[in-house]
Amino acid sequence: MKMKSCPLLIGLVLAAALGTVIADDKAEIAVDPVSGLKMAPGWEVVRASCITCHSAKQFLQQRGTRQTWDNVIVWMQERGGLLPLDSETRKTILDYLETNHGPGESFRRPPIPANLMPENPYVSEIRKQLEAEEAKKKAK
Ligand code: HEC
Repeated sequence: MKMKSCPLLIGLVLAAALGTVIADDKAEIAVDPVSGLKMAPGWEVVRASCITCHSAKQFLQQRGTRQTWDNVIVWMQERGGLLPLDSETRKTILDYLETNHGPGESFRRPPIPANLMPENPYVSEIRKQLEAEEAKKKAK
């Protein structure tokens, strides 16, 4: 091989190697076939804490900032019967959700607050019940 072609060859090899590294970086995290959770750090804690009442489908498609997820936890503790979480567990869950269900690159704006949303035609029975109870409490 002539010496001249060496830099090109090295360049190609480097580009290929870099491509592999980048592809690896974006490689999908394995998904637990039972729960559907990404098996990223903390997933066992999320599995233990978050899919006893509803499946992980409840949040697999959702994205949000750490604050959004914290709000969801508070909301569920107040209205969904989620028991208090010790600070270590809560941190693990929030780390997991922030990392794996964070806003992502296509995030444009925070979700519209619930009180500004139109009525949800697909609202579940449990939520209807909870909201009716809340309204009753307020009316008293
Ligand atoms: C004690 C039962 C219980 C546990 C445990 C629980 N949830 Fe929920 N969750 C609920 C109820 C009840 C709802 C409301 C269902 C509805 O209205 O459709 C809900 C709804 C949700 C929603 C939808 C909120 C929305 O705005 O519509 C998300 C997201 C969610 N849960 C995530 C989680 C995560 C994350 C965990 C683990 C920290 C968790 N849940 C643990 C009871 C629970």
